[in-house]
Amino acid sequence: MIDIPAIYQGQMSSLKDIRVSPLSRAYTFSDSVYEVIPYFAGHPLCFSRHIERLASSLQLSHISVDMDVITSELKQLGDELGNQDGYIYFQVSRGVDEIRAHLYADDLEAERFGYAFQTSVSVEPISGMLCEDNRWAHCNIKSTSLLGNVLSMNQARQQGCNEVIMHRAGNMTEAGASNVFYLNHQGIVRTSALTENILPGITRAILLEALTKSNIEVEEGECDIQDFNDAPAIWLTSSTKGMLPLTSLIGTTYFFEKNNLDYLRIKNIFNDAVELHLLAAK
Ligand code: PDD
Repeated sequence: MIDIPAIYQGQMSSLKDIRVSPLSRAYTFSDSVYEVIPYFAGHPLCFSRHIERLASSLQLSHISVDMDVITSELKQLGDELGNQDGYIYFQVSRGVDEIRAHLYADDLEAERFGYAFQTSVSVEPISGMLCEDNRWAHCNIKSTSLLGNVLSMNQARQQGCNEVIMHRAGNMTEAGASNVFYLNHQGIVRTSALTENILPGITRAILLEALTKSNIEVEEGECDIQDFNDAPAIWLTSSTKGMLPLTSLIGTTYFFEKNNLDYLRIKNIFNDAVELHLLAAK
């Protein structure tokens, strides 16, 4: 394990020194939720929105924990990044069982774990593979139960791709670890509505809010995967990828028009919006 700052049950140490019980429900049941908060030059992007989404994931999972404690631990981890780019990973499990049991004890103490990792947002476009979304039905919860995502993304890797775009009955949901937007052939920006059983991405919200203030037409709703065939640009949004275009999408005839003026404009609008959010965080 690498030597980076990490926290477990309030104790700050190095990731390599943290020991967890095999009876952590995160380990036996994936009974845990998580957040990934990006930092730029030491400043978090939309910190309070990540806290709110974590609170929502916890509430939907019936895990009770003091959000003030979590906020303070996240801030301690953020301080460890100094003025560097990176992200905070933070996970809360329902707790550690005495013996494995589906039915949990009501008095379990939630288990908090997180680390701070220095890295920069990747800017190289990536390729994707279209596949069926065979995940569970509560993808609005940022759960660590990601087996569906993991299996699909690793199947895509065998095809030389780094991501998947998933669909249910021909309607796009999201990517394995990102939300998805595309420009359709009429120049309208489209993305799945939150009702399509996707994660309410913070990066997605940043882009949508910024586009609302422009004159670019945006539609949130059902996204027919046939649209990809003649889309000039498809891109992913996530805390670790920012806004990243797909070069190709196996299963479609899509190819990325990298000089598409609408796309370039949208990218600028996104970059400006991120700058403004970061300024507000200073
Ligand atoms: N993933 N959809 C899924 C399934 C995701 O896992 C993510 C982020 C997103 C984008 O959400 P946001 O813009 O708030 O990061 C959408 C994180 C980065 C991860 O699991 O590492």
